[in-house]
Amino acid sequence: MTAVTHLLRLDVNGSTVDVAAPAHWTLLEVLRYRLALTGSKQGCDKGDCGACTVLFDGKARLACITLAADAVGHRVTTIEGLVTPAGLDVLQRTFDEAGALQCGFCQPGMIVAARACLDRKPDATRAEIKEALASNLCRCTGYTKIFEAVEQAVRAGKAAHVGGPASLLPSGDATPAPASGAAR
Ligand code: FES
Ligand code: FES
Repeated sequence: MTAVTHLLRLDVNGSTVDVAAPAHWTLLEVLRYRLALTGSKQGCDKGDCGACTVLFDGKARLACITLAADAVGHRVTTIEGLVTPAGLDVLQRTFDEAGALQCGFCQPGMIVAARACLDRKPDATRAEIKEALASNLCRCTGYTKIFEAVEQAVRAGKAAHVGGPASLLPSGDATPAPASGAAR
């Protein structure tokens, strides 16, 4: 039996895209296998690990349990979409600087979930960060460096607010901020 194919018009990373996909496909499948946006990972594929987290109208959402058809009319942002002409999202930098990854499989979902958290609460506390990332599993790091990376982004956001781009450095870092590292 041939699967019914739907033509979907989606808003992904600020662009409107028309994509044909089987009616039962999830948003994650369309992102990865139609749009070649492979940053969102296919981990458990059943809503348990958070590796597929995307922003859905600005809120964290598991793409593996979201039907692609349900994304029509909504804004979807993947880890790839966090990079702007100004450069990497501050979280993409701080995860790197804090060494908050080992195999890296969880990292896109973690960063996207953390972005949703900081968009909602730019001065999030450790407890709030933990809660926001509670659905994102990491098999490698033990989480401490992940929480530190998000806290580092919180500090960078506060510093940017007070002193502009020159203050984006994490506290104690004497290295000039790279041109591509503007805070988002
Ligand atoms: S792949 Fe979506 S929650 Fe695990
Ligand atoms: S770094 Fe390997 S799963 Fe998180």
